[in-house]
Amino acid sequence: MENYSIPTEFILLGITRFLFGIFLLIYLSILIGNGLIIVITKVDPNLQTPMYFFLGNFSFLEICYTSVTLPRMLINIWTENRTISFLACAIQLGFLLILGAPECLLLGVMAYDRYVAICKPLYYPLIMNHKVCIKLAVGSWTIGIPIQILQTYQVFSLPFYGSNKLNHIFCDLRPLLKVACGDTFANELSIYAVAMVFGMLPFLLILWSYIKIISTILKLPSTEGRYKAFSTCSSHVIVVGLFFGSIIITYLQPKSKGTDKILALFYTIITPMFNPLIYSLRNKDVITEKDFIFISYFKT
Ligand SMILES: *[C@@H]1O[C@H](CO)[C@@H](O)[C@H](O)[C@H]1NC(C)=O
Repeated sequence: MENYSIPTEFILLGITRFLFGIFLLIYLSILIGNGLIIVITKVDPNLQTPMYFFLGNFSFLEICYTSVTLPRMLINIWTENRTISFLACAIQLGFLLILGAPECLLLGVMAYDRYVAICKPLYYPLIMNHKVCIKLAVGSWTIGIPIQILQTYQVFSLPFYGSNKLNHIFCDLRPLLKVACGDTFANELSIYAVAMVFGMLPFLLILWSYIKIISTILKLPSTEGRYKAFSTCSSHVIVVGLFFGSIIITYLQPKSKGTDKILALFYTIITPMFNPLIYSLRNKDVITEKDFIFISYFKT
């Protein structure tokens, strides 16, 4: 009996340790990478521009956003205990929604900032002055708070008897609504409205900005500059597309499918991990000084 039970336990632990290791590595890389970006954008005198202000702020947001789900998952995997209390679940959902809104909005603001810098370079210092930057950042962080608190309250005021098993890796809207009893029509409606305002609108703004940026870039004099700018923009568009795509599919499709957990990994872990990397390493390539002067000249 004893001989038989030991290998069984061993296999299980092997699986969990494997996942644990990956998630821990991802979380540490998110903390270190974003932490570095925050420090560098704060102390480097060359980086005191709106772009790096938003990037630093976005990195700070990424740390907060991933800290809502990842540490809890790590603890659950480590202790092999899959339970989460009602209150903890409500808090997790609340923070996930509250921090999810600025994730979408700041990405929109960052794309708009690049649009003004590249397509309206002469007006850039005027449009993106310090006051406006602060207002955009504070606005992105705070505008969704009351709405998301209401939405969380609305979900947890539903009766939950019967099944309390969430087929998910953390507390999210869709899996909760699936096991809730009572009429969820009002919840469905508010999910749609919120996903439209905080997901679809910023996504369309980003697409519009990048279309404008790319059409400006195509007028650049050097092939090398065009190539660099184009590859940078496309990497931004891919990451942004994955992030918004997974969010929009998850929240706008009424019946959840088997791909829920994988989609959730995309918007909670995978794209937050790549975002700062791609934005910080490649942002400066978007446009070189020479191209910038050319565009300014070209526009006058
Ligand atoms: C980012 O912006 C928010 C809202 O303006 C602010 O509370 C936060 O401290 C900022 N974080 C960093 C690291 O700049």
